[in-house]
Amino acid sequence: MKHKIAPSILAADFGNLQRDIEMVNNSNADWFHIDVMDGVFVPNISYGMPVITAIKKHAKKTLDVHLMIVNPDKFIKNFKKIGADVLTVHYEACPHLHRTIQAIKDEEMLAGVALNPHTPISVLEDVIRDIDVVLLMSVNPGFGGQSFIENTYKKVIQLKDLIEKSGSKALIEIDGGVNDKTGAKLLSAGADVLVAGSYVFKSDDPTKTIELLKNL
Ligand code: DX5
Ligand code: ZN
Repeated sequence: MKHKIAPSILAADFGNLQRDIEMVNNSNADWFHIDVMDGVFVPNISYGMPVITAIKKHAKKTLDVHLMIVNPDKFIKNFKKIGADVLTVHYEACPHLHRTIQAIKDEEMLAGVALNPHTPISVLEDVIRDIDVVLLMSVNPGFGGQSFIENTYKKVIQLKDLIEKSGSKALIEIDGGVNDKTGAKLLSAGADVLVAGSYVFKSDDPTKTIELLKNL
């Protein structure tokens, strides 16, 4: 299966959000990556329900919602209601991760689990078969435009190995500092989904940049 590209809306022009959504609709991108930050789990606040509702109104592709919030369980039903297709929670924010994953699946969304750069792959051993997407953070979450942490390549290889050995069908998604160079190396290590914020939206021709990433 060809890899997927998920432009991160965090780097879009919020004054021209509909224009940027249409650009993604008309591009080779596969998913809209939507970062929700609460100022508690991460040292930044992004946007919440009203903005996602507005995105959903125009978006014609999968909404991949990345929750960087404490207590995500409280909001699972709300995110389903406003149109999330993939809902990803952080391992570090979920003391009862198995229950959280089941609750996301009960709402008929794909269940994603994100790992911070310092969190080892091994923590997923006992839930990997229940997960649809594993999101590896290749920067510390909270901000776009940071530089890629090289240790991520090794984690992709370890995760791929865990997925194959366990018979899991989870996709490997990478988030942070993705560009043509890091993207190509991530794909050869086994990544399935590349999130890209600044590299897409700050480029001269975002549609072409998406195409370039899709053709890596
Ligand atoms: C960071 C977010 C990312 C961010 C990526 O906390 O999870 O999705 O938008 O941005 P870039 O691609 O600019 O590193
Ligand atoms: Zn993200």
